[in-house]
Amino acid sequence: MLAIIGGTGLTTMAGLDVIKRHSAETPLGAASASVVHGTYEGYDILFLARHGHPYKLPPHRINYRANLWALKQAGATRVVGVNAVGGIDPSLSPGALVVPDQIIDYTVGRECTYFDGRFKPLKHIDFSWPYTSSLCSELLSAGEKAGEILEKGGVYGCTQGPRLETAAEIARMARDGCHLVGMTGMPEASLARELEIDYACLALVVNPAAGVTNREISLTEIDAVISSGIERIKRVIGAMLG
Ligand code: HPA
Repeated sequence: MLAIIGGTGLTTMAGLDVIKRHSAETPLGAASASVVHGTYEGYDILFLARHGHPYKLPPHRINYRANLWALKQAGATRVVGVNAVGGIDPSLSPGALVVPDQIIDYTVGRECTYFDGRFKPLKHIDFSWPYTSSLCSELLSAGEKAGEILEKGGVYGCTQGPRLETAAEIARMARDGCHLVGMTGMPEASLARELEIDYACLALVVNPAAGVTNREISLTEIDAVISSGIERIKRVIGAMLG
């Protein structure tokens, strides 16, 4: 079953007819919220609010391990993570929708594996291509069907937050090859891989990253881009199911 992890702006999914709410409790502690099983436009889907609902967990305090575990328990075989991001590549203006194909992880101190030698014995996983390419292709086709332009590929740089970055940090990330910056893409993607769940990211650019323009980042402008972007994201998800 397809699951959506909703990020900032997508804490509930209007139009979802709830069939069942699964418990948020897992052997790894509580997930951000209960996993909602419902139908969207007549199709079965699971939904989880990454930052909790209504409580707003900061990116570094999200229990990513519990979230992915709860989704797997509820029957998720494929997960699309929806993320609001900053655009590092100047061609990615606010409103752009991107399906990235690579990740650089700049986070620190997050519980990032099930194979930690305590919960499960140590094991190394291959993560050369962090997103499931067939699921990325499905997203791109759904975008076409929904009449939305989705940018194919790009490197998602995941920072610790919750503060936004300095201009120098973004300049360094650009030199590293990052096109996008967000705070919640990792360890979500690698935990999905550890659980053998297909995973792709649908990123909505909500601001030019720090120093990309000569203006400070406006949180009010971000909110406006999120509200219009979420409707487009829901159209893409609908097209993916149908
Ligand atoms: N940086 C990090 N995370 C973000 C940004 C940003 O500029 N915008 C939205 N999420």
